[in-house]
Amino acid sequence: MIIAIDGPAASGKGTIARRLAAHFGLPHLDTGLLYRATARVLLDQGSKLDDIENAVSAARGLALLDFEEDRLRGREMGEAASVVAAIPQVRAALIDMQRAFAARPQGAVLDGRDIGTVIAPDANIKIFVTASPEIRAQRRSLELRGRGEKVDYPAILEDIRKRDRRDSERADAPLMPADDATILDTTDLNVEGAFAAALDIVGRAQREAL
Ligand code: DC
Repeated sequence: MIIAIDGPAASGKGTIARRLAAHFGLPHLDTGLLYRATARVLLDQGSKLDDIENAVSAARGLALLDFEEDRLRGREMGEAASVVAAIPQVRAALIDMQRAFAARPQGAVLDGRDIGTVIAPDANIKIFVTASPEIRAQRRSLELRGRGEKVDYPAILEDIRKRDRRDSERADAPLMPADDATILDTTDLNVEGAFAAALDIVGRAQREAL
């Protein structure tokens, strides 16, 4: 079973993907980390984020040490990841490893922006998780505060809007629901409610496939 979870920043897709993976005993790949790690390598090199040649070799050369999570999860890296993710050659360099992960014999859960549309168009279950920008900015503020970062709500809301625009308007693999995705709006749901709704979507898809 391949479960594809897509959606904008701070929609709750990562939490839902992790919980579904644990529930079904499936491996999980947070594909945003690939773009965050690529951006991090470029920033550490002092390279510009839109230097295509360097960005492609950073993406191709990703190593385990580049995935040290704490720095990747911060606000700066999310924004930088969105810039490198708009480069088609970077996306192309990262496709094979994501498809190989999705093709594992036992199945997999992947979350990102283009899983249901590009990486795993044949996924058995596709969920597009969304929520209002204001709620997403609140969630991101709480998360960043928990990580000890300084929180400026209006700036975070502006970040979220800018990232939505950049991720949705890029030409290659833009953020959008696959035609056969089920939309899950988590604006009025807490974590438990969102997970229960996602489980319900999976259960329904499994029954329909019988
Ligand atoms: O999900 P995230 O916030 O960690 O993603 C960071 C950025 O990476 C996001 O703004 C756009 C990009 N991204 C992408 O283009 N495609 C994916 N499958 C995952 C992330």
